[in-house]
Amino acid sequence: MKERKNKAKRRTSLRARAFSVGQRRRVFRTCRALPAQVSEEAGHIFTIRLLNQYLTIIMDPHCYEKFAKEKNFDFDPIQKQVNNNVFSFELKGARKMISEAGKKVNGRYLSSGMESFAKNLQDAFRVFTKSSASNADYNGNVSAEGDAGAEWRREGLRMMTSKTLFSALFYTIFGRSVDPSGEEKVKDFNPQIFHEKFDIFHKFFNYLWIGLPVNLFPKACDALKVLCQQPTSYDMLQRDGSDQDIMGHNLVFLHVNYNSFRVAFWCVYKMVEEPHVLRDLEKELREAIEDRQAEKDESVAFTLEDIDKLPLLDSFLKETLRVTSGVFMVRYCSEDTDFEMSNGEKYTVRKGDRVAMYPPCIHMDPEIFEDPEVFKHDRFVNTTFSKYEKELKNPVFTFGSLCPGKRISMLQTKWFLMNLINSFSLELPEGQKTSPNTAFYGHEILPPVNDVQVHFRPKEGAPVLAFSPRRYYSS
Ligand code: HEM
Repeated sequence: MKERKNKAKRRTSLRARAFSVGQRRRVFRTCRALPAQVSEEAGHIFTIRLLNQYLTIIMDPHCYEKFAKEKNFDFDPIQKQVNNNVFSFELKGARKMISEAGKKVNGRYLSSGMESFAKNLQDAFRVFTKSSASNADYNGNVSAEGDAGAEWRREGLRMMTSKTLFSALFYTIFGRSVDPSGEEKVKDFNPQIFHEKFDIFHKFFNYLWIGLPVNLFPKACDALKVLCQQPTSYDMLQRDGSDQDIMGHNLVFLHVNYNSFRVAFWCVYKMVEEPHVLRDLEKELREAIEDRQAEKDESVAFTLEDIDKLPLLDSFLKETLRVTSGVFMVRYCSEDTDFEMSNGEKYTVRKGDRVAMYPPCIHMDPEIFEDPEVFKHDRFVNTTFSKYEKELKNPVFTFGSLCPGKRISMLQTKWFLMNLINSFSLELPEGQKTSPNTAFYGHEILPPVNDVQVHFRPKEGAPVLAFSPRRYYSS
């Protein structure tokens, strides 16, 4: 009886709201606020209409595990919708391919993947340090502290992250050309060009996702043309990888490229925005280096476990993910499904509707996170979080429940930050400020409203951080 009443209630008082184009634009802009406002009125589960689709949003964070396990909440049709609407292609044997992609970044591949990434990152930092020295447009001393007389340089943070983290990811995924001339056979197959085109293409992601044709956006079409100029399978097989590597490439690439790049951007920004954050992270790393460094050793080895044993860095990364997530966890409901909330109430989700959880809203819930608008780098050190006086198993779910790349992305980002902090002094010049662009809610990680400049200079005598695949790490 209760179920029926709830169902009826949902169909009447929570009747799906339809949005005009103007309202829809506002929805994307104020997306985080909107479910929170509706939730106040309508409770912890409600339905809205977006174009011709009904979307039931579950706001109770304790439902996360049940939501993730519900077999009638299917991600495949969503994945197909994204690939079809956004990239105009259908993955053949999508499940197998996704599962292969997942395997390639977990279990015994995790360590070898990290080893390859660490090597490419070292190369990228080397090239970056050299090229930024020759292109430096700022050589003055900007701080009284640190290495007196060392040369400060200036770079846009997006470009800096692109030349370091993104380049390393690019070469880890695609390998390097084995053409003896060193030239890439495929025109424009280069990390910075790819990055630039992805940037353009992603601006249109939300419009394409909801079904508007790509031809309406000539800039997106031009960018896509370049992105499709990848090496052929034959070319790829000439590189260090196997045909298995190639299978997961395109899919993995989309995620790694964009999400990891954006996370790294935000981490560096958050590190320099408040100088004490960088100082605390530097201290933690210095102590970890001292613990592992034999006298006069130039190189200090870190295993996967060692990387994970830096509680402040871990908390800092989680806090960054908390404040920059934009993702909706969306599923297609394949059967009428009775869904039980954490207070025991049951609701029926209709077959054919979309059903979602909305991490950004939960991440900003003041009942869970004290002063949620404030960035606290140590928020996650030795703490638990609760809602309705019950501890939450997963307070931050930027990666949704399905992402197989969570482990490796977290490790790669940490390794990138450790290397950056170890090798460079960093400062945010006065007046440089940015924030997440709320027009892009729906993206896993929000882009910034604008780029910022950063000052940096190589630290003299910094030890080399070496990644050690020594110990097998089970995920
Ligand atoms: C910061 C980096 C990343 C973020 C924030 C991120 C986020 C996400 C999110 C939110 C989803 C949807 C999950 C859901 O709705 O439950 C997802 C799915 C997925 N991600 Fe990631 N991801 C990242 C990196 C990666 C990497 C490195 C890989 C490499 C394998 C990857 C592969 C995938 C795949 C294959 C799926 C689809 C899973 C399925 O259909 O079962 N992601 N990711």
